[in-house]
Amino acid sequence: MKNPMDDFVDKLQEQIFEETREVYGEEVFNRWQNPKFMGRMANASSVGRLTGTCGDRMEIYLRIKDDRIEEATFFTDGCGSSVACGSMVTELVTGKDLDHAAQIGGDTVLRALGALPEEEQHCAYLAAEALQAAIHEWMLKKIKA
Ligand code: FES
Repeated sequence: MKNPMDDFVDKLQEQIFEETREVYGEEVFNRWQNPKFMGRMANASSVGRLTGTCGDRMEIYLRIKDDRIEEATFFTDGCGSSVACGSMVTELVTGKDLDHAAQIGGDTVLRALGALPEEEQHCAYLAAEALQAAIHEWMLKKIKA
């Protein structure tokens, strides 16, 4: 038999999830709960690492072959929105060529996620800028090679 405290905690968690869904929408909520491609990548072709003005770090790792992003992962120590944005960036670029990835900005991430409160929209820009930093690093490596 479940004790009343467990029941209370379950109901409270359900309520928090429900409110989060309402404010952030399904796309953000799902990635916050189950982010895709999260984790640092060993032997990445390039990495973009940035710290936002809020102090959160965002890292985007790319494995590139023939100017195509074969694999992308992210790491962040930031909030749930940063996790959702990092996840969305890696989803948007996996399997895409670099020209396509170079077009992705904060607005692209925000549109793909559907909703983020105004005070957390910078998370999308941070994730997109980290992607662009990773692409930039790759270009520099290619020039020097
Ligand atoms: Fe700053 Fe999410 S990146 S709060």
